Amino acid sequence: MAQINHHLLLLLSVIFFANLISFSCQQDLSFVYNGFNQGQAILHLDGVARFQNSDGLLQLTDATAQKMGHAFFNRRFDFGSVSSQSLSFSTHFVCALVPKPGADGGHGIAFVLSSSMDLTQADPTQYLGLFNISTNGSPSSQLLAIELDTVQSAEFDDIDKNHVGIDVNSLQSVVSAPASYYSDRERTNKSLTLLSGDPIQVWIDYEDTLLNVTLAPIRDQKPSKPLLSRTINLTEIFPDRKAFVGFSAATGSLISYQYILGWSFSRSRVSLQSLDLSKLPSVPRPKIHKKTSPLLIVLLVILALIVMVALGGVFVYRRKKYAEVKEPWEKEYGPLRYSYKSLYKATRGFNKDDRLGKGGFGEVYKGTLPLVGDIAVKRLSHDAEQGMKQFVAEVVTMGSLQHKNLVPLLGYCRRKGELLLVSKYMEGGSVDQYLFHCDKPPLSWSQRLAILKDIASALCYLHTGASQVVLHRDIKASNVMLNGNLQGFLGDFGMARFDDNGANLSATAAVGTIGYMALELTSTGTSTKTDVYAFGAFMLEVTCGRRPFDPDMPVEKRHLVKWVFECWRKGSLDEAVDRRLRSKFIHGEVEMVLKLGLLCTSIVPDSRPTMEQVVQYINRHKTLPDFSPDTPGIGVSTPVLMGLPSLAITSTSMASSVSSSSANNSMFISHTIIYGDGR
Ligand SMILES: *[C@@H]1O[C@H](CO)[C@@H](O)[C@H](O)[C@H]1NC(C)=O
Ligand SMILES: *[C@@H]1O[C@H](CO)[C@@H](O)[C@H](O)[C@H]1NC(C)=O
Ligand SMILES: *[C@@H]1O[C@H](CO)[C@@H](O)[C@H](O)[C@H]1NC(C)=O
Ligand SMILES: *[C@@H]1O[C@H](CO)[C@@H](O)[C@H](O)[C@H]1NC(C)=O
Repeated sequence: MAQINHHLLLLLSVIFFANLISFSCQQDLSFVYNGFNQGQAILHLDGVARFQNSDGLLQLTDATAQKMGHAFFNRRFDFGSVSSQSLSFSTHFVCALVPKPGADGGHGIAFVLSSSMDLTQADPTQYLGLFNISTNGSPSSQLLAIELDTVQSAEFDDIDKNHVGIDVNSLQSVVSAPASYYSDRERTNKSLTLLSGDPIQVWIDYEDTLLNVTLAPIRDQKPSKPLLSRTINLTEIFPDRKAFVGFSAATGSLISYQYILGWSFSRSRVSLQSLDLSKLPSVPRPKIHKKTSPLLIVLLVILALIVMVALGGVFVYRRKKYAEVKEPWEKEYGPLRYSYKSLYKATRGFNKDDRLGKGGFGEVYKGTLPLVGDIAVKRLSHDAEQGMKQFVAEVVTMGSLQHKNLVPLLGYCRRKGELLLVSKYMEGGSVDQYLFHCDKPPLSWSQRLAILKDIASALCYLHTGASQVVLHRDIKASNVMLNGNLQGFLGDFGMARFDDNGANLSATAAVGTIGYMALELTSTGTSTKTDVYAFGAFMLEVTCGRRPFDPDMPVEKRHLVKWVFECWRKGSLDEAVDRRLRSKFIHGEVEMVLKLGLLCTSIVPDSRPTMEQVVQYINRHKTLPDFSPDTPGIGVSTPVLMGLPSLAITSTSMASSVSSSSANNSMFISHTIIYGDGR
């Protein structure tokens, strides 16, 4: 009856645990775990050891510090009561020691044979959950362990931090060796890194007092040669020939995840069931970014912010840098409008090296536009929105003017407080450079006369040739440009309305340059007659090589008109002619030009010829009208017009201020005081 019960129990056990675990009998204990999904009740766990149900792992330690975990088969293994019978056992297990990223792993796993299942009083860290300070080294511990130690503990004479040792009642191993295995294929010992995180196979065989420990990586067969082989008298350790079998693992300040993946145990090597390695659970690998991610995310966010701020800054900077002012009324001038960016690039960012000149109202830069070629860009600063529409309209109209002696105006661009005018670049520079600067060769008389004819023709076209009368308003030597062949081109029309402060763009404001301005400018404003006056002054200037008004000269020569007139009256007109011509000129031509200049600068506007007449006179298609030094209005010096607000200005301080601002400066005379030395 007892026999039947016994068999029934056995049968039930077999059915219950399927083919994972089997017992032959208590005397001949034998089991195999291919993963730990089933039969968990048969194992006794303590400490931090637990089953990872999801993947069938037996986890002995997690990555918390100073912890230990134990797992014992909950039945005591009986080696057999017959003392003559030799003891033996055999086991094969697969473990994995997975370091926590960024931390050195510790401390290790041990296979344990112990007379007691209760190791809760043992210590973690270097004690591996096997002993404490009082039980270590005591024969009463009755404990045999095969340690896979990943920390070198000097107090137990550990050989390194990657070794396998056999411990008998003490952590001071009776024998140990660096973790390695014999490769039958390559016939050499190969080292193993216990903390690689990869599964490691371990075989422990005990037979005829010889204990063999053999290691191998998961893919390899059991090596023919063990790593450790040592004679151990198990009867001495376990006098009652009984022991619990299981595992212990511990962490210290060094931590690692330590797992058992599968375990087979038997009384003898022959009856040991082999593990089905394909059924073993896989080892979870902690992802590296898990730990570093918060810092990494912060860094990435900061980096992204920096990049965004930088990009935003660049965007805003570029927007601001190339910002323009555009209004609906400008639509019709679209084709004449240049983008600021293109002008910026054409002039290499308005490079100072490319600056052609600096006037009272702005700066001129040389540039190069694709398809167009060399250009001159005039930057006019202004604050006035008032009158801008009319001015731009006028500029655009002028751009449509076609004459061989007008500097072609190509277009414009508007920005806040700034207007840019684009015209063709004149490689010869301006006439005043030839007259007054030493870096250009002096012009010959025939060249000067040709230039005067060119400009007369251009001005005549403005006054009569276009669909409407166009006033130039600021004829002067610095506004007459030359090309490479020294042909004259009239440029900068309309510009005179930009005063020094950029405050006024009114079409009726009377402005001009000292010495070129007719007296009636203050009363009746600009007209074709005032342009003729300025051209007359220009003719005298070119012939005499002197500015129309020169405060550095003695009083009698200061006003060019008056000086030329005096020379004429004395009958010595040639005296007024530019010395640099060295008398290489035709007297008749010079006389005609000077007289025409005097006629044009007559103080009586109606006495001045029209530009059509001037063209006829200068080309000698007509002879000059008969007039003498006694003709009224001839040779009267126009008072100097100054834009000074206070009446308390003395003539000397005025003279010096004129000198410093030079004849290049345009003068705004809406609120002027008139000084004159009269006649
Ligand atoms: C060591 O362990 C034993 C039992 O295994 C226990 O009785 C003893 O108190 C422990 N000693 C220390 C210092 O923890
Ligand atoms: C391999 O290691 C074992 C044990 O450490 C040693 O006895 C043996 O001589 C080694 N064999 C080779 C080929 O190095
Ligand atoms: C232990 O290893 C030796 C060879 O090193 C071998 O002769 C012996 O049979 C082995 N014993 C067991 C139990 O595996
Ligand atoms: C093992 O130890 C026991 C008890 O001390 C002793 O009786 C036996 O002879 C020993 N066996 C061998 C092989 O040394």
